[in-house]
Amino acid sequence: MRGVFLSLEGGEGAGKSTQAKRLAEALEARGVHVVLTREPGGTEGAEAIRGLLMQGAVNRWSAHSETLLFAAARADHVEKLIRPAVEAGSWVLCDRYVDSTRAYQGAQHIDDAAILALHGFGSKGLLPDRTLVLDLPDGAGHARSIARDGGAADRFGARGPDFHAAVAAQFRRIAEAEPDRVRLIDASGSMDDVTTSLMDALADLLP
Ligand code: TYD
Repeated sequence: MRGVFLSLEGGEGAGKSTQAKRLAEALEARGVHVVLTREPGGTEGAEAIRGLLMQGAVNRWSAHSETLLFAAARADHVEKLIRPAVEAGSWVLCDRYVDSTRAYQGAQHIDDAAILALHGFGSKGLLPDRTLVLDLPDGAGHARSIARDGGAADRFGARGPDFHAAVAAQFRRIAEAEPDRVRLIDASGSMDDVTTSLMDALADLLP
């Protein structure tokens, strides 16, 4: 039996990586086998591309080059890890996926239709069965991530608050346009509350 493909999305400082682990544990407790993975990365080749993307000066890559690198990393990840695991019956939980490209590179004026066309070519257009977007009021997440990382941000965290507000707006637009697949989750509550909201948004998929 086919498994389920989930992605978890959101801006910086929304607690996404912590929630990914908590959600994986909550799903395992319901008896499903979970493969937790992340983007950019997840396979050897995609992790090598991650190094290129995350390190260096903010202007190391143009928005166009960056979009291609994310799509290349994703193609490898889908082919070698995500698709085989879902076909083998696992639940794959991916920390960021194509909606991150639509939000982050979209916020740099890369056309959404072009991103989806590249996704069609690289990853045969594979979309998650459900995408959960952790949403915080504008500014709150960026402030949290600066407090956490002490200013030692990567190429993306190093951008200003206007960029992060544009990213959050892109995620909200995607959620509004694709309500069956994409659910906005309020990330401002306690860790337990957020995990409960994530599980509630998967109720119809659970065994
Ligand atoms: P990561 O350290 O995984 O950050 P986070 O904890 O916020 O998930 O870094 C991933 C960064 O790459 C993050 O700033 C978002 C960015 N990104 C894109 O710009 N486009 C993409 O397609 C993906 C997957 C990530």
